[in-house]
Amino acid sequence: MNGFHAAPARPGEGYRETYARWQADPEAYWLEIARGIEWIKPPQKAFDPDAGAYGRWFPDATCNTCFNALDRHVRDGRGGQAALIYDSPVTGTKALYSYTALLEEVATLGAVLQDLGVGKGDRVLIYMPMVPEAVFAMLACARIGAVHSVVFGGFAAKELASRIDDAEPRVILTATCGIEPSRVVEYKPLLDGAIEMAAHKPQTCVVLQRPQAEASMHATRDKNWRTLVAAAKTAGRKAPCVEVAATDPLYILYTSGTTGRPKGVVRDNGGHMVVLKETMDQLYDVKPGEVMFTASDVGWVVGHSYIVYAPLIQGATSVLYEGKPVGTPDPGAFWRLIAEHDIKVLFTAPTAFRAIRKEDPEGRHLAGHDLSGFRALFLAGERADPETLKWAEALLKVPVIDHWWQTETGSPIVGNPLGLGALPVKHGSPTVPLPGWDVQCLDEGGHPVKPGTMGAIVLKLPLPPGALQTLWGNEVRFRDGYLAHFPGYYDTSDAGFIDEDGYIFIMGRTDDIINVAGHRLSTGGMEEVLAAHPAVAECAVVGIRDELKGEQPCGFVVLKAGVALPPDQIERELVALVRERIGPVAAFKLALTVNRLPKTRSGKILRATMKKIADGEDYAVPATIEDITVLAEIGVALKGRGLG
Ligand code: COA
Ligand code: AMP
Repeated sequence: MNGFHAAPARPGEGYRETYARWQADPEAYWLEIARGIEWIKPPQKAFDPDAGAYGRWFPDATCNTCFNALDRHVRDGRGGQAALIYDSPVTGTKALYSYTALLEEVATLGAVLQDLGVGKGDRVLIYMPMVPEAVFAMLACARIGAVHSVVFGGFAAKELASRIDDAEPRVILTATCGIEPSRVVEYKPLLDGAIEMAAHKPQTCVVLQRPQAEASMHATRDKNWRTLVAAAKTAGRKAPCVEVAATDPLYILYTSGTTGRPKGVVRDNGGHMVVLKETMDQLYDVKPGEVMFTASDVGWVVGHSYIVYAPLIQGATSVLYEGKPVGTPDPGAFWRLIAEHDIKVLFTAPTAFRAIRKEDPEGRHLAGHDLSGFRALFLAGERADPETLKWAEALLKVPVIDHWWQTETGSPIVGNPLGLGALPVKHGSPTVPLPGWDVQCLDEGGHPVKPGTMGAIVLKLPLPPGALQTLWGNEVRFRDGYLAHFPGYYDTSDAGFIDEDGYIFIMGRTDDIINVAGHRLSTGGMEEVLAAHPAVAECAVVGIRDELKGEQPCGFVVLKAGVALPPDQIERELVALVRERIGPVAAFKLALTVNRLPKTRSGKILRATMKKIADGEDYAVPATIEDITVLAEIGVALKGRGLG
């Protein structure tokens, strides 16, 4: 365990000692952690400062991520241990895959992909719900050196099409449907629509037929998943692990940017494994053989890192949950899972706990569930409001740990490192930078601000192993979007402050990204959809406060002169349009027609002021405002919907 587990004499001592060790010699520190990974060619050199945009980790090493997640544990005697527990209240199904069984499924699917012509470096797009086959698919790609790109099921055909065009996958792996508590979401029509729209055409789609929705198959392009896998099993076909460079891409994961065009975050193989191992030991404190439950989706980074890769690399057991925190069937779902599967650590988004608290404020659904083995709750994905944190602490009587990270970083930047000995909690702060991260708070001119002063939260380069290398096919956008604003630093686009004890507070984004139920969304992307409606002259989308989801998008639209349709009809059409173009995940339910938008004299729309009005907060009227009376009109429009 890399010698990091000596019991600290004073709170924070283990953390301070480890952080200081990283600071003193980052390369020696990471080479030491890298010993926890099994390499094909072990790294002799930790870092090449001249490669890539800010350097590359483990430039001379080779490895296979799937080998570290599966084969290695089977070889070392963990074959009979549970690797994956599938628990699906929406289908009434449960299944357990031992490491041996999971390896068998993954190696077989790897061979199926190879038979379909997928080789090292080829992209495979995975558009799947939370079923075990989604995990098989990711690991099978890792096994054969292919690059997966998982797309969340709540995105619509157009979003899927833009990802197909960017990643240019040879094969797409999909299922016929996902299951939301209120409805069956048919994936196949969305996929067919996306392929129709995309310029790039995948060679093959492998379709997992689920009993909840049978799908018709394209005569030449579509293949039946189960038939292919059964044939490969009968033939005894299994793919061996393919040797890849540590710096080769493991996956591309698209995330929202400031325009409708998503950004393909590229993650490498070697650095990714090393950092995940580090966080399992130092932050989450999940040991081999223990059970971790990450209630997210494999379509998000949280799912990639802590449903799939980290627990398996650690030799732990991961719970794959196809359900919700509430309604499947009740707000006691998580307590049932913890007790039934002996879960030690739960990781989810604060919104899940707000949902549970709303339905069961007294925690009555805890009754009858034995949570005595439960050790810690981790929350991330959005700001954890202190009220929710305190409620969870009082209810569960375990450490509740807020931690902060991004799709781009791949693993937590700031947290309270339970595995090193937790530090005192300050509610509202995810605590301290983890070893590997030099977090600073700068003013617009790039100068450090005083403790307690708000500024831009930035990360000093080089980023540690596992952070994004670049954006897929777009190095210029990577440099311009992240590295250009504050030379020598990665700009997180989060604003916040660092207090006199070095605790970091993350308060919100500095760009147009909003966070709805822990899902990262671009208001710019929604504006592009609204503006495409023939009746809309101009528009602005802002994230306004929502008790359950943290934020919800609200679109203000100005209609073109002479539009004959009634505004409420257009508003309904706009809501439907965002759902159709971006998907239900956008949770866009509020379009408001206004006569004018508030602007500065230079024509900049005052979105921040509109948000403050909607949230009922005090605001200073910007000195450069063009016409102050527009603000009152916005207030009236919001009041008409019971907001502001
Ligand atoms: N496929 C298709 N549609 C999906 C989907 C998926 N995988 N996931 C969500 N949706 C749909 C929902 O059904 C909903 O549709 P609706 O407008 O018809 O109701 C819409 O997208 C918005 O989803 P969401 O914002 O998640 O709202 P919700 O009311 O369905 O659920 C929570 C709210 C809080 C229960 C849910 O967001 C949750 O469990 N969040 C915590 C965990 C998490 O997802 N974290 C994210 C990253 S860590
Ligand atoms: P994503 O890339 O989807 O993981 O979203 C990353 C963004 O979510 C960050 O840039 C933050 O704005 C926000 N975020 C994630 N975790 C936290 C947290 N613990 N506290 C505050 N904001 C968070």
